[in-house]
Amino acid sequence: MSFTVALNFADGASSFIQVKPGELLLDAALRQGISLPLDCREGVCGTCQGQCESGRYEQDYVDDEALSPRDLAERKVLACQTRVQSDASFYFDHAASLCHAAGPLRVSARVLAVEQVSASTAILHLCAGQHPQPLQYLPGQYARLKVPGSEQWRAYSFANLPNPGNRLQFLIRLLPDGAMSNYLRDGCQPGQLIELEAPMGSFYLREVRRPLVLVAGGTGLSAFLGMLDAMAERGGCGQPVRLFYGVNQEDDLCEQARLEGYKARIPGFDYTPVVSRPGDAWRGRAGYIPDHLDAQALAAQAFDMYLCGPPPMIEAVRGWLAGQALAEHQLYSEKFLQSGR
Ligand code: FES
Repeated sequence: MSFTVALNFADGASSFIQVKPGELLLDAALRQGISLPLDCREGVCGTCQGQCESGRYEQDYVDDEALSPRDLAERKVLACQTRVQSDASFYFDHAASLCHAAGPLRVSARVLAVEQVSASTAILHLCAGQHPQPLQYLPGQYARLKVPGSEQWRAYSFANLPNPGNRLQFLIRLLPDGAMSNYLRDGCQPGQLIELEAPMGSFYLREVRRPLVLVAGGTGLSAFLGMLDAMAERGGCGQPVRLFYGVNQEDDLCEQARLEGYKARIPGFDYTPVVSRPGDAWRGRAGYIPDHLDAQALAAQAFDMYLCGPPPMIEAVRGWLAGQALAEHQLYSEKFLQSGR
């Protein structure tokens, strides 16, 4: 006996799979050649997230940073933790093509430099030049990096576009005591090798059909730098693009010149830094990002919103959106854990 489960994707494609009683949805899909995006397999990272449209299921462990109570009430699921109890259908908010790729590649990349770009942030520059082809990923996706000298892996969003020389950038938050942070501060030297697995995740820039609102918390900016590079290369995206960039203190802000530069390269681009705990000299926006979203403008015109940052920021913005009467919109989000990006 098995259950018939439909997997529906954002591009309109559907696949049907058979799921054995007690089998994890992710495993059943993989067994039938559909590699849903995944990372931790432990119910923590949220990468394998989907939404149940019909049918019964139960989930094993679901970390509250992967799915909030609101997500659970909306029948969002983690494919790596879901066991169906009837025929069912699930929606995955990304293109089906993301599941049919060969899966992530594991390569070694050489450290080119560690560039400290704010009090709390570094850009790690790597070169995976020995890999014969350009590493393929979509702007907004991430890689897992193995911390040299340890068995620990950390996830970081690409901060630049794929390129023939495989020169890769990652924005990394420097924690007072974190495995990657300690390595970057104390042990990292140009020329060292770092193992890397990519591409990961289902957060990427979809075709732009209406105004974009991008919301970055801290090093969540990394994912947007790749997306903005893509728009800049094409001379814009034909729609206004508004980026809100939230940090704790003003000296956490980074890549300001690069963000300013996008204004000239992406027609209709603007960005707003928001500092939650500013010093006396700060003259810009203070507080949290929802304090600065324009409900009137967002009620007047349909829009797409992309959120990338720590779970409390994502939940604060989603809570704000739920309390407003807004025009039609689509929300895409990527939460990351504090130990990671
Ligand atoms: Fe991380 Fe499923 S792969 S929550």
